[in-house]
Amino acid sequence: MRVLHVAAEVFPLAKTGGLADVVAALPVAQAQQGADVRLLLPGLPSVMDGVQHARPVIDIGSCFGALRVRLLLARMPGSALPVYVLDAPYLYRRSGSPYGNHAGEEWPDNLQRFALLGWVAAHLAADDADLRWHAEVVHAHDWHAALACAHVADHPASEVRSVFTIHNMAFQGLFPLHDWPLLGLASRHMSPAGLEFHGQLSFMKAGLQYAHRVTTVSPTYAREIATPEFGFGLDGAVRSRGADVTGILNGIDAEIWNPATDAAIAERYDLARPQGKHACRRALQAELGLAADERSLLLAVISRLSAQKGLDLLLAALPQLVAAGVQLVVQGGGDASLEAAFRMAQEAHPGRVHVHIGYDEARAHRTIAGADAIAIPSRFEPCGLTQMYGLRYGTLPIARRVGGLADTVRDAATTLGNGFVFDEATPMALAAAVLRAARLRAQDPAAWQTLQQRGMAADQAWAGAARQYLQLYRDAAGRPGTSLTGGGAGGAGGAR
Ligand code: ADP
Ligand code: GLC
Repeated sequence: MRVLHVAAEVFPLAKTGGLADVVAALPVAQAQQGADVRLLLPGLPSVMDGVQHARPVIDIGSCFGALRVRLLLARMPGSALPVYVLDAPYLYRRSGSPYGNHAGEEWPDNLQRFALLGWVAAHLAADDADLRWHAEVVHAHDWHAALACAHVADHPASEVRSVFTIHNMAFQGLFPLHDWPLLGLASRHMSPAGLEFHGQLSFMKAGLQYAHRVTTVSPTYAREIATPEFGFGLDGAVRSRGADVTGILNGIDAEIWNPATDAAIAERYDLARPQGKHACRRALQAELGLAADERSLLLAVISRLSAQKGLDLLLAALPQLVAAGVQLVVQGGGDASLEAAFRMAQEAHPGRVHVHIGYDEARAHRTIAGADAIAIPSRFEPCGLTQMYGLRYGTLPIARRVGGLADTVRDAATTLGNGFVFDEATPMALAAAVLRAARLRAQDPAAWQTLQQRGMAADQAWAGAARQYLQLYRDAAGRPGTSLTGGGAGGAGGAR
């Protein structure tokens, strides 16, 4: 099965959140199961610089406002996965994030930037771009890639199947309706049954309406987005797709996030040698200037600072938590008012609260390894990866029962507990969960260890989800299961 994953970001070349981690790991896991998998990415500066062995495939010429567009084929660093890169300097060669400038303003031509991405994806599937390879399945991630699904559906001779994965319903790619002629799509798609969304043009709807299958990144979130509370106005469109919308829980890259081999942390550890975690804890306290306190609960947050993540609840609960002896380490960036509020919290609680505003992978590893617990009090959370990293590192998640958090974290009070769960999005409910964790750690170290061991022993690798996606592609294509589902690297030839 030839699969093309289309996305705006991929770790380690361009990353603003978990999407990049998924796009780096899922295709590799599918390739290990025998599928013929490639990526398509916009040629952001860090992508152009980071891919290896790039060679031109086709000169696309001028389109979407750019004069010079080329398609290159290269290899991902590390995994060597084949990756198509759209070299369009006018659209992509800018310093900033994949979506906007350093000040957080979106690029004014995002419509053209991501319309090009979806359009080329569809051509790679239509055997029109690379004469040596074409996709049978186009797997588009988030709104940035969603137009691929509309173009695939539009091609009269197409047997290609498209799958659209929603990583976050809050970001939909909305543009003025009058810009639709720039998309290169037939006007019949500009209706509420197509891309129109309350007088605007919605890229997300291109995926939701036209993909053969729609997935999201956890079973609970798949149910949630069919409700007004979580659907951001598209819950009706989700419901109308019925059983075509399913949830497949993300995995984690078990090589990158592995305390037994992690080069970034003070001392490596695993289930058999758990002592290393104490050394990581001491090293973290020393590095950040926190009191070398053995008894306090050392709580971490590694997160985008946005309303989604519910960190205002943590700010409100902080005085009570610090008074109870909790230490807090926050690493994140985003919303300016949250950044400022966390900086003030650090000043108010010297030696107890440490805040690092900024993005730093190695530091995230050190923090997750050194902390006792990791807080994820999200208002909504499609999947969430940091709670899974926490589980792997014996760092107990304290999470709100929502989305993927509900599917991965089980409360300590239940038989297979691996963390702490709360329901209400209130500072009080969060504080109660954190204080429960602090008490358990102080009063019952054996019970704490059992929770840690459960998390560390769990299989969170991508293999399972990769297999589920491959089966979904086959279902979409109306093909029976083959040896691919049997798993195991290389046992997949029959899937072609
Ligand atoms: P989201 O995609 O909504 O931001 P996830 O939990 O799925 O949430 O993924 C977040 C990813 O970004 C994780 O890999 C996390 O470690 C990483 N991350 C977030 N903020 C930072 C930061 N300030 N420094 C380093 N890594 C971060
Ligand atoms: C989104 C979601 C997050 C999810 C990630 C990867 O950014 O906010 O919950 O883990 O995508 O699927």
